[in-house]
Amino acid sequence: GSTVYPFYQEHQAGIVTPAQDRLHFAAFDLAPGATRADLISLLQDWTAAAAALTAGRDIGSYGAVGGPYDAPPEDTGEAFGLPPAGLTITVGFGPTLFETSAGLDRFGLASARPDALVDLPHFPGDQLEAARGGGDLCIQACADDPQVAVHAIRNLSRIAFGRAAIRWSQLGFGRTSSTSTSQATPRNLFGFKDGTANVKAEQPAVVDEHVWVGAGDGPAWLTGGSYLVARRIRMTIETWDRTALREQETVFGRTKGEGAPLSGGTEFTEPDFASTGNTGAPLIAATSHVRLAHPAQNNGVQLLRRGYNFVDGNDDLGRLEAGLFFISYQRRPSQFTTVQLALARHDAMNEYVRHVGSALFAVPPGAARGSYLGAALFA
Ligand code: HEM
Repeated sequence: GSTVYPFYQEHQAGIVTPAQDRLHFAAFDLAPGATRADLISLLQDWTAAAAALTAGRDIGSYGAVGGPYDAPPEDTGEAFGLPPAGLTITVGFGPTLFETSAGLDRFGLASARPDALVDLPHFPGDQLEAARGGGDLCIQACADDPQVAVHAIRNLSRIAFGRAAIRWSQLGFGRTSSTSTSQATPRNLFGFKDGTANVKAEQPAVVDEHVWVGAGDGPAWLTGGSYLVARRIRMTIETWDRTALREQETVFGRTKGEGAPLSGGTEFTEPDFASTGNTGAPLIAATSHVRLAHPAQNNGVQLLRRGYNFVDGNDDLGRLEAGLFFISYQRRPSQFTTVQLALARHDAMNEYVRHVGSALFAVPPGAARGSYLGAALFA
């Protein structure tokens, strides 16, 4: 619980940081009438608050209980006495932040918009709900204690009052990825190990190639940043739970117990897509998730996956409102689009999942001490 990740860094924390166990993610819209000055002051206030929160300190100069008796406390207090719990706060900018509305360039950012920061295309099978997608800004708060993650989003949204408000948010309770070789691979709600073939922090060349926006990729303000894709993927686990183990393993192309490729070996053995069984059929089916998502099928494209399980109560039919809140970080949104297009068209898993929420954000590089997140955007 005492893990602290430094806030002021070259890249924002919460990307290659070993994935924590808990998530509170929120997308915000700027208030109608908010100005460029409001946006800048909000980012400055969020930066100062994020630096305090991630260090395990209260918000403000007085915190939860040290302030004047006749004023509301600066910090809401529910994390008072809790350790920092590895909290990271990662801020991103949505396409709408850069859009002109009714001919008005709200924040004077229209010319700073990266060409790639546009809404993701509609994928076959998408059943997106507007209320679960988009947003001018986002904050990903990850921690090993749910109270710490929720406290962060609560206080950051409180700070935004009058300038921005939450558009949608998502809690996640169990990481579905490893982003470091130091971590054991966790499981998603289908019961499979998830994160085996993920990009890991210990592969700096791979991270540079596939995760960080490079100089010359687009506007300079985003160099050292990344693109965040969020997809709320509903899983029909009741149907899944009635399918045979054989079908479940065929869907993914890996064993359920060990997570080994169906072509043989152990968890971290490279899948051999050419290998066939007695009948001549490929051991890893053509429609399996792992084959379709593998870099070999996608022009070498890789993603850093950092998603979470969710169960938000139940629906009217008594089914769990469960799924995977997919988050990936990539140097270019087209990396996600390439893989997702292949999955949307052919993945056997589609019978058991439904994409209901979608958002794309440009995540600026880390803030320098004395500066604030996204400062280069306003320089
Ligand atoms: C691999 C589950 C959605 C991209 C895997 C694996 C599992 C899995 C069990 C194998 C273990 C591993 O290497 O991590 C799921 C579930 C999903 C989901 C349950 C949704 C409910 C997605 C989406 C994308 C994606 C939306 C991207 C568009 C990948 C990639 C791999 C992978 C790139 C690694 C493939 C490889 O190189 O072997 N996923 N996944 N997944 N998944 Fe997913």
